[in-house]
Amino acid sequence: MSDAFAALTHVDAGLEPTLRRLYERHREAARRVDWSYAALLPWEEGRDFRRVPWRPEQRRLSAPIYVAVETALLTEVNLPWFTTSLDGLFRGSLAVLHDFLRSWTAEEDQHSDILQTYLLLTRNADPQRLHDLRRGVIEQGFTVDYHTPIEVMVFTTIQELATRAFYLAVAAAGCDQDPVLARILRRLARDETLHYGFYRDVIAAHLQANPNYVWPIARVLQDFNMPGHAMPDFRGRMKTIARHAGYGPAEYHQAVVATLVRHWGVDRLQPTLAGAIAARADILAHRDRLGRMAERLGGPRGGAGNEAPAALLR
Ligand SMILES: [Fe+2]
Ligand SMILES: [Fe+2]
Repeated sequence: MSDAFAALTHVDAGLEPTLRRLYERHREAARRVDWSYAALLPWEEGRDFRRVPWRPEQRRLSAPIYVAVETALLTEVNLPWFTTSLDGLFRGSLAVLHDFLRSWTAEEDQHSDILQTYLLLTRNADPQRLHDLRRGVIEQGFTVDYHTPIEVMVFTTIQELATRAFYLAVAAAGCDQDPVLARILRRLARDETLHYGFYRDVIAAHLQANPNYVWPIARVLQDFNMPGHAMPDFRGRMKTIARHAGYGPAEYHQAVVATLVRHWGVDRLQPTLAGAIAARADILAHRDRLGRMAERLGGPRGGAGNEAPAALLR
């Protein structure tokens, strides 16, 4: 990799004041959307598992919605590995990234907690099976596939936006089965929106300073996969969720990829390096390919939060 391209995978130190402003904006918005376990969880449903052991018929959620929530939980439990990876990748970079990482970890840490507490309180989950699954996923460990700060922040931008769209889709699909679950998922989606906004605008600031930053975006966007390899039957879960819980390739195209390409203004960027010019064309071709695939599948079903998520960030 030439020096010109290697530089495009690192944070531009001249943007420190901008990143600091983005972090302050995040702190302010996060204070406004903060939520409490006490208010969101249905405590009145809690019963002693020793006195009243779990039985399968106690599950009230349909199988696909249960799978979607369990999958969300088993994704969120990777947090210790995520924090470890990001901490290593940000080492030597700007202090503000470490400040954000601490806030982000504190906010994300609540997500697996509330999902697990919800599933246990409402007896939708078999407590022993959930315990085994959670422990097994964390024990397998997880490493991010990227090795530089910019690449990993492109990855987290996509992941946060995809998680937001996923929570909103499952909330819409599962609302009739349990409005309490829908409310919890929509609260989590607000947290993910703010995380997405920080990472997205860090990348946008780099693109504005130097449009050749489109180069690291291309590789990450074209290879993107949700972290889930450690989860039993990840592919089967994704199929079930696409078919019955409102989040599949069509939603990924519209609520994630097309939204990001539009926000970053990829079609208007004017990179100067040959590799970056090609990367820009690759991103647009990738978006269009996903769009054609989405059309063949019948288009998105509208629960994935296709509206611009910018409102919450202001
Ligand atoms: Fe989360
Ligand atoms: Fe998040």
